[in-house]
Amino acid sequence: MSLQGKRIVVGISGGIAAFKAVELVRELMRRGAEVQVAMTNAATRFVGPITFAGLTGKPPVTDLWAEDYAGEVHVELGEWADAIVVAPATMNLMARAASGLADDAVLATLACARGDIFFAPAMHHRMWAHEATQANVARLIERGAVMLGPVTGTLANGEIGLGRMMEPEDIADELETQFARGDDLAGRHVLITAGPTHEDLDPVRFLGNRSTGKMGYAIASQALRRGASVTLVSGPVNLPDPRGADVVCVRAAREMHEAVMQRFEEADVVIMAAAVADYRPEQRAPRKIKKGNGLQLELVRNPDILADVGAKRGHRPAVLVGFALETENLEQAARHKLERKGADLIVANAASDGLAGDTNRATLVEASSATSLPEMSKHALANQILDRVSALLQRQPRRTATKAGPDAPN
Ligand code: CTP
Repeated sequence: MSLQGKRIVVGISGGIAAFKAVELVRELMRRGAEVQVAMTNAATRFVGPITFAGLTGKPPVTDLWAEDYAGEVHVELGEWADAIVVAPATMNLMARAASGLADDAVLATLACARGDIFFAPAMHHRMWAHEATQANVARLIERGAVMLGPVTGTLANGEIGLGRMMEPEDIADELETQFARGDDLAGRHVLITAGPTHEDLDPVRFLGNRSTGKMGYAIASQALRRGASVTLVSGPVNLPDPRGADVVCVRAAREMHEAVMQRFEEADVVIMAAAVADYRPEQRAPRKIKKGNGLQLELVRNPDILADVGAKRGHRPAVLVGFALETENLEQAARHKLERKGADLIVANAASDGLAGDTNRATLVEASSATSLPEMSKHALANQILDRVSALLQRQPRRTATKAGPDAPN
């Protein structure tokens, strides 16, 4: 039983999917976990606390004011739990958690969490797509929480859409995977590039692309979660800095190139998720270009950062990862890129899937294998990529950077 000995708080908020929490609690216990349930008031209107008391042998925490709690029950639970999973997590619960409220048993316990926090959202697809929900989810992820789902399926009112809670067995699988990952990247330094580059035409115009930077930022926050120290070389994006990362802001490809070339030898892993412009205007006009009858732009090639690191790498980085956006022959083209740029792993996306969404469908291409992954959130994909990175690192001795001399194994 792979959750043997793990202490898990299942937080339940008030949505119709609360009935599935019964199955989740059973599944976690079946895998060996010790479970304590906490419920919001609304949740108790969907499922009776007595059900969980019967299953776990312990009454759920439903009311912080109850007289039978000698101390501060939320502090004790937050300290006790190796993980807290809120399932279902409603729009309202996540909004309150994102803004730091702590006025019920679930929220106060979350606020005191020592271990990992997971949310399994469940709501109507329009509530999930709501701008406020998406902003709150982004804030929670930025603070280190893991979103499990939602998935596409039949919703409470019979409609089909993205908003259904992940199945209890899948949630339990995800928890197992997260526990197994632990801090497998502790002591490793990961350098990540993210976002687009902007190539200036004149003081007000530039050539750019639609990259949001979400993929690179997701890799950065998941690498941090897994214990790595992270340097994030970022083009212009609209995202908060992942907490704990050393963020280097750049604009154009040449600046990104310089920032990476100065730092790659200190990194165990380099992951190039940036959508670097292949070309830049030959000249940046010193003044705003006035309109005329037409305009001819002369473009020149930018340096290929990934290929340069691939060509110059010695001991470091031990693992070099690139991305590829292809319209045809995905795997073959990615493998060609792998060889040409001297990378160990290429994350290949079909160009038709676009750059800007929150999900991604990718094939992980290595010298002797290719794994096609289903569509998943960028954070889930980040972890899949880091799982491969971690496996590739296992083949290399652990090294520490010293300014004085060559790398020495620990
Ligand atoms: N890349 C880079 N520097 C560039 C262009 C790309 O470091 N000037 C990196 C990207 O960060 C990505 C990988 O190279 O990890 C693949 O980029 P892509 O544009 O798909 O590949 P190209 O080699 O430019 O091939 P092509 O344009 O022919 O598809």
